[in-house]
Amino acid sequence: MNILITGGLGYIGSHTVIECISNNHNVIIVDNLYNSSIEVLHRLNKFLNKDIKFYRTDMQNIVDFEKVFIENKIDAVIHFAGYKAVGESVKKPLKYYDNNIGITINLLKLMEKYNVKKIIFSSSATVYKESEILPLTENMPLGVTNPYGRSKLIIEDILQDIAHADNEFKVVILRYFNPIGAHPCGMFGEENNGIPNNLMPYIVKVAKGELEYLRVFGDDYNTKDGTGVRDYIHVVDLAAAHIKAIKAFDFESNVNIYNIGTGKGYSVLEIINNFEKATGIKIPYKVVERRGGDIGEYYADSQKAKKELNFETKYGILEMCTDAWNYEKGNN
Ligand code: NAD
Ligand code: UFG
Repeated sequence: MNILITGGLGYIGSHTVIECISNNHNVIIVDNLYNSSIEVLHRLNKFLNKDIKFYRTDMQNIVDFEKVFIENKIDAVIHFAGYKAVGESVKKPLKYYDNNIGITINLLKLMEKYNVKKIIFSSSATVYKESEILPLTENMPLGVTNPYGRSKLIIEDILQDIAHADNEFKVVILRYFNPIGAHPCGMFGEENNGIPNNLMPYIVKVAKGELEYLRVFGDDYNTKDGTGVRDYIHVVDLAAAHIKAIKAFDFESNVNIYNIGTGKGYSVLEIINNFEKATGIKIPYKVVERRGGDIGEYYADSQKAKKELNFETKYGILEMCTDAWNYEKGNN
């Protein structure tokens, strides 16, 4: 297939480009380099021994964006592009609605015009309402608490509305849990400039000595050790899920939604311990107040993706830690 990958130079996008090309798909990347660099393209070309077609295009500009559809015959789209910082979205909601929803509408208009009817969309576990019942299955109640999450939910709804109106329009929604780690080759990983918000990017900066200690946000949650529990998934496994998801375009239902996680929850303290075990580096930490808006615990029921897509994760927590650290050491 000819697959258009929006946001293809970003963290998850770049790993998915590798999976697509390794599975003999042809890839066209669109990215405006808002949160990525052209070096990623050079590395992808080198690693894959290819000359991948790339458009440095802001998808908000539909005139520029249309060139991609004029110049290529696209069979399917994997749509990663968007902003993703939860905290910033609370402060600048319009920026998030404008970009995340705006570029999706431009994409969908062009898909309609050029008769492209298959899309895989990057959604998030953040669309689920806080639940005492775990693991989270795909049909559990939805509810969001920040504009980033709401932009994901609105896009899920828009996609489903289009699919209901057009039976040939095939939508696969993947709700990612917490992707961490990096490609084992050490050439691809998460951009990590400035002070990180997320756990693993923060830990690797502490390991490097650039930050003094990790702040553990609360140890009084109702969890195994009081600290927050999440379902961390290796980014290479997450990328591989997109190849499996292509299968769902042929399913009878034209909307298919999957959790993409491991089904296993790790606490913050367990992540610290595993990181120390994997790398031999001690991570100093202090327990501080809970972070506003955080939920104590959630993890995926990953059975639906396993049963219907034959998707299973290959990497464990130690590999997630080792690969995150290897990338941080050699880059950033
Ligand atoms: P990322 O920021 O690394 O990648 C997104 C890419 O989109 C970047 O390269 C950026 O430059 C590009 N982009 C943004 N706006 C654009 C525009 N207007 N035009 C063209 N390109 C644009 O993010 P990621 O971690 O790879 O996440 C990919 C997707 O997965 C996002 O939609 C994100 O919301 C979703 N997601 C991520 C996580 C996570 O923890 N990383 C969790 C759940 C869902
Ligand atoms: N944490 C700390 N200290 C830190 C950073 C995080 O203790 O410096 C804790 C958090 O309190 C939480 C856990 O580590 O318990 C994970 O936090 P992250 O910030 O890494 O991830 P979140 O689960 O809060 O959110 C992430 C993304 C969202 C996405 C969600 C999907 O930031 O965009 O995963 O599940 F929607």
